[in-house]
Amino acid sequence: MRATQTGDLWWKTAVVYCLDVQTFYDSNGDGIGDFAGLSERLDHLVELGVTVVWLMPFYPTADVDDGYDITDFYTVDPRLGTLGDFVEFMRSARSRGLRVIADLVVNHTSAKHPWFQSSRSSVDSQYRDWYVWRDEPGPEKPGDVVFPDRETSIWTKDRKAGQYYLHRFYRSQPDLNVANPAVRDEIARIIGFWMELGLSGFRVDAVPFLLETSGIEGGAGDLPQPHEYLRDLRAFLGRRSGDAILLGEVNLPFEQARTFFGDEDGDELTMLFDFPTMQAMFLGLAREDAGPIRSALLARPETPGDSQWAVFVRNHDELTLDKLSGAERQEVFTAFGPDEGMQVYGRGLRRRLPTMVGGDGRRVRLAYSLMMSLPGTPTLFYGEEIGMGENLDLPGRMAVRTPMQWQAGEMGGFSTAKNADALCRPFPATPYSPDEVNVVAQRHDPGSLFSFLRERIRCYRECPELGWGALSVLDHDVPAVLAHRCDWRGGTLLLCHNLGSTAATVRLSLPEQPSGARCVDLFDRSTQLAITADGSLEVTLPPYGGRWFRLLTGSSSELV
Ligand code: GLC
Ligand code: CA
Repeated sequence: MRATQTGDLWWKTAVVYCLDVQTFYDSNGDGIGDFAGLSERLDHLVELGVTVVWLMPFYPTADVDDGYDITDFYTVDPRLGTLGDFVEFMRSARSRGLRVIADLVVNHTSAKHPWFQSSRSSVDSQYRDWYVWRDEPGPEKPGDVVFPDRETSIWTKDRKAGQYYLHRFYRSQPDLNVANPAVRDEIARIIGFWMELGLSGFRVDAVPFLLETSGIEGGAGDLPQPHEYLRDLRAFLGRRSGDAILLGEVNLPFEQARTFFGDEDGDELTMLFDFPTMQAMFLGLAREDAGPIRSALLARPETPGDSQWAVFVRNHDELTLDKLSGAERQEVFTAFGPDEGMQVYGRGLRRRLPTMVGGDGRRVRLAYSLMMSLPGTPTLFYGEEIGMGENLDLPGRMAVRTPMQWQAGEMGGFSTAKNADALCRPFPATPYSPDEVNVVAQRHDPGSLFSFLRERIRCYRECPELGWGALSVLDHDVPAVLAHRCDWRGGTLLLCHNLGSTAATVRLSLPEQPSGARCVDLFDRSTQLAITADGSLEVTLPPYGGRWFRLLTGSSSELV
């Protein structure tokens, strides 16, 4: 395929930025971020160079799960603004060339949603079969409860209904019954509604649970095969907008995850978050050993045709380590979150990266450099670009969802509210408070993390090999170093990352290069490494250092 034909596959080389409107920028001083505020701060995202905004849920909510418990799918939470503000935001984003995707949370609703209220009120309700009811608790396997801190079962008896209902998450989040065609129709209507307002697609919440039907047997209607249903959804979306995407939350081992792309056909989810590699990366960082990342990358299946892995360091949830063995998880806990209060659900950490590595800027930069060098679409969580920390005084996963830190001062430039008590959430304390960590201080400082990431993002966007290319992991004999290459349409990138605390030199092999071939350091263009006649080159890496090179073979189209 020619590069000029790929504009509709924009997501292959996109950089996604996840934010919660509530915590981004408060324009009216009530302490809660809002759409009008977000619209004012879009230039920050443009300057950083991201290309897609992922909005966490902004719909009316009972707010037990920070917006992931929706009470109305068709409007905006009044605390965040109006539909009018939303449309203004969409228009402002579009004028700056930013695309927008939004969380699609349709595995469940809030228990306060009128559908559930009606459903529980009577067996004759037209909404009765919109949820999954049983006289006795349905099947349940160990590990089925997602939030074991607050729930002990995925079945709860509703007194009014006189029956048990299914909820994969909190009991206040009853699962919708996708076996019911009326529910599937409504999901399509929700997708169609927001697409009309200009979205470029959705981040699909909890996909395996949405498709899970084992507890649902006996539900109304003709349940299609789960993957058939996902294909239907994707096809529907594609009819509404040919280049729109579904970016799925599917935290499963690679082989299972791959089926959510639609196997070879690639006709289900467009992108999946690469949870296994993310977890391996943290094990590797903890051990200062590239081995786990190497193994993950070697096990990572190729994505079918028009699909892609989305890579990330951190998301808005716990940093889950659930796919590591118990001993491996313990290693990461010991290195990066030894206190029980830093851990959550027995499987994850509720810290952000900078605090995990004791504020060591080299290791923070290493992690982002590595993540962005892996073939895929990088996804950032707001605040990562300036190295925000967490506030462990906040409950559970809320620790990493503190307000964006724009400038120094008690309100962090986030709000004009009278005092910090009015803020929707408190900032982290020193040394991660807005006085020490903020946008204004970093954007003009060429040595800041913000400048570093802006530079990496620019470079990622200039290197289609990362979004499009084929990956190979290179052999050498330094365990702390990961060296890989990405090839696409005659272009080759060489990417080297040293997870260790001492400098390292690796000898790598890039056979069959024409004489005079060399590798240019993309962040220090004066450095060019010659490739010897036998096709080898030597790369030196500082402690916790990452370097990206482009192979130059002297062809006339090379723009150095
Ligand atoms: C997903 C979200 C998480 C939410 C859960 C239930 O895992 O990422 O934040 O709590 O779904 O909607
Ligand atoms: Ca506000």
